[in-house]
Parts: sequence; structure tokens; C-alpha cells
Amino acid sequence: MTKWGIIGCGRIAHRFMQGLNALRDNALSASYSRRPETVDAFVAQYGGKPRSSAEELLASDIDAVYIATLPNTHADYSIKALKAGKHVLCEKPATLNLPQLEEVLSVAKASGLLFMEGMKPPFYPLYKKLKEYLQQDPIGPVGYVRAGSSVADISRDHPNFSYKLAGGALMGIGIYEAFLAVDWLGKTEEVQAMGRFSGMEIDMFSIFQTRHAGGYAQLYGGFDLHGKGDALICGTIGHVTIHKNWWNPAKATISYLDGRIVEIDEPFTTGGLNYEIEHFVELMKAGEVESSIITHEMSRQMIKMIDDARSIVGLKFIGE
Ligand SMILES: NC(=O)c1ccc[n+]([C@@H]2O[C@H](COP(=O)([O-])OP(=O)(O)OC[C@H]3O[C@@H](n4cnc5c(N)ncnc54)[C@H](OP(=O)(O)O)[C@@H]3O)[C@@H](O)[C@H]2O)c1
Repeated sequence: MTKWGIIGCGRIAHRFMQGLNALRDNALSASYSRRPETVDAFVAQYGGKPRSSAEELLASDIDAVYIATLPNTHADYSIKALKAGKHVLCEKPATLNLPQLEEVLSVAKASGLLFMEGMKPPFYPLYKKLKEYLQQDPIGPVGYVRAGSSVADISRDHPNFSYKLAGGALMGIGIYEAFLAVDWLGKTEEVQAMGRFSGMEIDMFSIFQTRHAGGYAQLYGGFDLHGKGDALICGTIGHVTIHKNWWNPAKATISYLDGRIVEIDEPFTTGGLNYEIEHFVELMKAGEVESSIITHEMSRQMIKMIDDARSIVGLKFIGE
């Protein structure tokens, strides 16, 4: 039985519990959130014990911690959890910026414990099936990725709009696109970006394009336009469309230069976080300290891309 603690009992923590409850041999043991009423309601719904501080949670008999607060506190809680001897699955973006991530990774290395950023798309059945399929029937070397999402229906009290909590389009949405670009095109070599704040303290809409070892990516994220949410991956003899919402992938179409069209349908279950949790627990049980899918280097590449784009659009967070 893997005993979990959760820090930050908000929206994504509920979805995490949907996933956790679908898995055998995993249980929620302890929860902590900033407001006691949030923890009490969470525990009433999912069980386990409410804890009145992160320290109390980390001192309890848990194996792993899921950090589901906002990016302004991810590094601090990850470091505390690793120092307390707990494995850490931390929501995306893993930290506020690359220097913070390096700090977390050096503590993780010293502790010999598992640290993984919760970047969910590669664990979905569709994404895995697509990669397997392309092994047998390739689209040629991939040289271009285009992906984006702008969600105009989020209420203004959402943390995505909060400067203090390190919100903004690049942090909230761009990080998924950074993953896609790095996953298909490799190491980032150059970042260009434009973004507008529209009277807010965070970027409300940003576009960024990147050059990688394997080619180019064009990416966008935002909160004030109704965007599409699909992804295009182009190779020399074919292209893939991962249909919206590509970061919760369930359907893809592969179009080959010779005219063939292949559709892949792989629905996901229980909110989709179950797959990354399963992967994390397998690694933990095998004594691994790093995922081979979301590697520490990949987390570095993703946050560096967002750091560079933020610096160009002029978004600095508190303490930077
Ligand atoms: N993987 C995915 O699919 C996915 C989807 C959405 C978001 N995310 C990521 O998940 C993270 C959380 O997003 P969310 O949408 O769940 O936000 P959210 O609904 O605001 O939840 C965050 C919770 O953390 C608590 N909290 C805030 N600051 C805290 C602190 N210093 N110490 C302890 N608890 C604190 C708040 O609880 P109180 O009520 O106690 O203040 C809040 O309910 C973000 O990093 C986001 O990027 C991931």
C-alpha cells in the first residue's frame, strides 16, 4: 500500500483523488491546505487525516507527497518534503523558474528520493499508442510542432489570473506546450516570444516560437480569446493532429503524404491523472529517483523555455 499526503486541496487535488481512487494499493493518508475548511471538506470527501501544517503532514507515516498548490510554493514544499524523506510528485510547472528547479533537483539528488513533475500528457493511453504506432508506420523525422490553447471561460478568481500565485498564460498553459515541443523536437536552442497583459499583472495572451535540435515550434496560450486546443506534429512524410484538448489526449489523426489517413481513438478514464500516478508508484517501488518519461532534464528544458519567454514578454514574479 502506498500512503499519500496531499499539500493544497484545490481543483487539481480533487482530480488527483479521482485517479488515486481508481488504483489499487494506493490510499490518501493525510491532507494539508492553507485554509482548515478546505482540508476538512477534502478529508470528509476522500478520507485520511486532516493535518494543520505541512510540517505535521510531512512528519506523518506517508510514503509520497502530491504537491498541488500554485507554482509560487512548489519549490518550497518539494524541498521540505524531500528533506522529510518523502517521494515527491509535484504539479506543473515544477517551480517558478529554473534556479528554483535546480535547488529542488539538488535536494532530490542528495536525498536519493524520487522527484517527478506532474506533466500528464505522455502517460495518457492515446499519447502512448500514438508513439507506438509511429514506430511501425513513421511520419519521418519531426521538424515542426504547432500547439496552443486559449481558454476564455475561466472565472476571474482563478489562480491563473493571480500575479502573487505566479499565474499567467505562459505558466498555466505554455508549460504544456513547452513539454510537447521538447518531447518531439529535443533540446531548446532559441526562444522568441510576444505577449500582452491587457491591463492585468500577468500575461493574458502569449505566443512563443522556439528552435530545437530537431526543428521549430510555434505555441500559444491565453485567457481572453476562445482558442482551439489541438496540436500539429509534422514529419517529412506525414503529420499528426492530436485533437483538442491535446493535453488530455483521446483522439489523433495521422495523415501520410501518400494519402493514407489513420485515426487513433483511445479514451482516458477517471480524469486522466491515474496514469501518471501509476507510473510514479512503479518508479517508487523500483527504487528509481527519476522518471525516464518526464526526466529531470525535460523539466529543466520546459521551465527554461517559460523563463526565457517570460523574460521577453516582461513578466517577473515576486523574488525574481
Ligand atoms: N495536471 C493538470 O491537469 C492540472 C490542471 C490544472 C492545474 N494544474 C496545476 O495544479 C496546481 C494547482 O492548480 P489548481 O487549479 O488546483 O489551483 P487551486 O484550485 O487554486 O488549488 C490550489 C489549492 O492550494 C491551496 N493553497 C494555496 N496556497 C497554499 C499554500 N501556500 N499552502 C497550502 N495550500 C495552499 C489552496 O487551498 P486553500 O483553500 O486552503 O487556500 C487551493 O485550494 C497548479 O500548479 C496548476 O498549474 C494541473
